[in-house]
Amino acid sequence: MNHLIEIVHDAVAKQQPIDLHIHTKSSIDVTQGNSFEEFMVAGEKLGIVPGFLDHFQSEYFDKPSYPFSEPNIGVYVDEFRAARDSGYKAYLGLEVDYYSPDLHADRNARTAEWLDRHKDDFDYFVGTIHDVFDTKITIRPDLKRLLKTHGFNEIQQEYYQILEAGINSGLFDGFAHVDVVYRFCGKGGILQLEDGYSTDSRTVAGMESCVARDVAIELNFRGLDHPWHDTYPAEALFKKIKIESPGAVFFTGSDSHDVVTFEQSATMTRKYFQMLQE
Ligand SMILES: [Fe+2]
Ligand SMILES: [Fe+2]
Repeated sequence: MNHLIEIVHDAVAKQQPIDLHIHTKSSIDVTQGNSFEEFMVAGEKLGIVPGFLDHFQSEYFDKPSYPFSEPNIGVYVDEFRAARDSGYKAYLGLEVDYYSPDLHADRNARTAEWLDRHKDDFDYFVGTIHDVFDTKITIRPDLKRLLKTHGFNEIQQEYYQILEAGINSGLFDGFAHVDVVYRFCGKGGILQLEDGYSTDSRTVAGMESCVARDVAIELNFRGLDHPWHDTYPAEALFKKIKIESPGAVFFTGSDSHDVVTFEQSATMTRKYFQMLQE
């Protein structure tokens, strides 16, 4: 059993809510972020154990300021440990980008080497797909640009192929927001929300691959604030897989990029954590 699944089982047994998807100021998309300790202090007040999941993208390894390059990683891990050892319960994970094996086998190979080298520094590694056809589909203007040259059907197909490869890569203990390709589908988004999206059979297949590979599945509720207006995976699918695949292990993640969002998400964290146990 991987360590992430152990963490979830332990939390459920103790009825201790966990939020295992938190970004500190070390994530590349955070400008006004918070430290490990600031989240831990807030988590203690809320009664929620935080688990960190900063972005790890091997495409940035060669940037000198990158927190996960070899000269810098020690400082990052030490900062987490110093905060935790001052008296808090917390976990250290990473949200690790997996790339198209056709376009960027080199990046995935670098990732695999790095994860193996640093596996003892972290509690868990969570895979994630943000790039389709070399474009960040979770960033609105980028997806808009991609749609000028590729149909959404093609983007979905490519996304699900990379997702399947990522789950089956054996690199990850968990997988994040498995149907995030629909982030901008819906009111206020870029694309229409089609009926079949929230029950897409390819999302189901991905989740079943997670179950078969002993990979935990994130229940990410940041999507409620996106045009998608649902969890990732969609709540209907979460409930379906929970009933049909009793071996599926889910973990709750708010995808907070600052303490205020972490605090504002607390009610949802408790609600969805409770649903894991029902
Ligand atoms: Fe993400
Ligand atoms: Fe994230």
